[in-house]
Amino acid sequence: VAQKREVWSGRSVFIMAAIGSAVGLGNIWRFPYIAYENGGGAFLIPYLVALLTAGIPLLFVDYAIGHKFRGSPPLAFRRLGRGSEFVGWWQVLICFVIGVYYAVIVAWAIRYTFFSVTEAWGADPEGFFLEDFLRVDGESSFGLSFVPGVAWPLLLVWVVTLTVLVLGVQRGIGNASRIFVPLLLVLFLALVVRALMLDGASAGLDAFFTPNWSALTDTGVWIAAYAQIFFSLSVAFGIMLTYSSYLKRRTNLTGSGLVVGFSNSSFEVLAGIGVFSALGFMAQAQGVAVDEVVASGIGLAFIAFPTIVSEMPGGPIFGVLFFGSLVFAGFTSMISIIQVTVSAFQDKTGLGKGSAVLIIGGAAAITSLLLFPTTTGLNTLDVVDRFANQFGVVGVAFTAVVVIAWILRRLPLLRTHLNAVSSFKVGMAWYVFVGVITPLVLAYMLFSEIRDRISEGYGGLPDDLVLAFGWAVQGAAIVLAIALSFIPWRRGVDTEYEEEE
Ligand code: PHE
Ligand code: NA
Repeated sequence: VAQKREVWSGRSVFIMAAIGSAVGLGNIWRFPYIAYENGGGAFLIPYLVALLTAGIPLLFVDYAIGHKFRGSPPLAFRRLGRGSEFVGWWQVLICFVIGVYYAVIVAWAIRYTFFSVTEAWGADPEGFFLEDFLRVDGESSFGLSFVPGVAWPLLLVWVVTLTVLVLGVQRGIGNASRIFVPLLLVLFLALVVRALMLDGASAGLDAFFTPNWSALTDTGVWIAAYAQIFFSLSVAFGIMLTYSSYLKRRTNLTGSGLVVGFSNSSFEVLAGIGVFSALGFMAQAQGVAVDEVVASGIGLAFIAFPTIVSEMPGGPIFGVLFFGSLVFAGFTSMISIIQVTVSAFQDKTGLGKGSAVLIIGGAAAITSLLLFPTTTGLNTLDVVDRFANQFGVVGVAFTAVVVIAWILRRLPLLRTHLNAVSSFKVGMAWYVFVGVITPLVLAYMLFSEIRDRISEGYGGLPDDLVLAFGWAVQGAAIVLAIALSFIPWRRGVDTEYEEEE
């Protein structure tokens, strides 16, 4: 059953959706801390180098494959070269895993948007988050006792996400992105302006921007820059590839990639300014140095920010701006992650998008609702997240780059395709970035992560939890990816592409 592939109505809606996907929680709660820890203002140099030598070049690879081969990752890799379909499935499975817990954080942020209004955490944001809200059980490593206060917003996140996906690429994802991305920008700009006016903001900005030049001689800082870029642009694990498979035949790919890459990074720097202004205020309010209040990730969003909201005049509005930004930033990323899985399932089976969303999206939603709104959900999420990002994403990106550049040797073909449709032409430098620099950096990241996790475990969390939700989940994804690549495709999948070419 040949179906016509969906298309974006134009390049600008694609760019909006791609920015919506790239700009996520990582921009807001990861970048500011990583930059601060790795040289402050001086970090911008390795960061920019990583953007130009790895982030944008890999973005071009994703766009070229998705656009040329017009398919979800497994289909596109199958068309790229024999035997590489499993790489696509591996990407799809990683997206499935990430989507399952990413939704949970969006759900927390929804609750916290409302908690901000009344400052529901009272005098103890940390106790409120862990005990009253998440009902964390410190005793067992894994259990299924339900926490309704997390479950219902999570259900809402899934219903909205799947509804958007059922509406389709243009009508659902395109329109959602055209509303949420500008809305995010307005909310976040308001937040940054307010943060800049707080007492102590300048001390926060000093802490953030003061360059530590000696950091530039530290390999760890360079790796941190590349890691932030890979993570933040979500390259080489199927997302950008999928979105570009819906572009019309003649679309300026590299021009779009440059816009997306620089927009995402601009948003990160903006977030650094907003977050550190707020942390500077918090430090001053508590009479301590800025470095004593610096936080990232869940601790920054759900403990430090509530504290800031309580300490400042007009806190509730500030809280709504902050958590509202997290919701919108997270939501557009969430949509893109699940679309990868739906798209692959549709391509492989020939089912319509309604059934595909119901089956695959439904499976993801149920898994998510069973595992995470529980009294042990926080630790489970922590482990799954760490392994998915540092092991799964890095491993699949490394494999993809090696397969594309060295095993199948398809870079010249992709380059021809990029240059045939795009304004900004890629040349020899692109071969070096994609074929040499990125695999080396990714291999190093992968190797050191595996070594550290084997020797140290993870974050003092129980070994059985790390084994089951870290190693086993990531290992199973690889095995399942290979198995899926042996399942036959719907009929006509190859002829329909040859006819088009
Ligand atoms: N890259 C996004 C960020 O910076 C998050 C994301 C993760 C998006 C996974 C899509 C897929 O937060
Ligand atoms: Na990002």
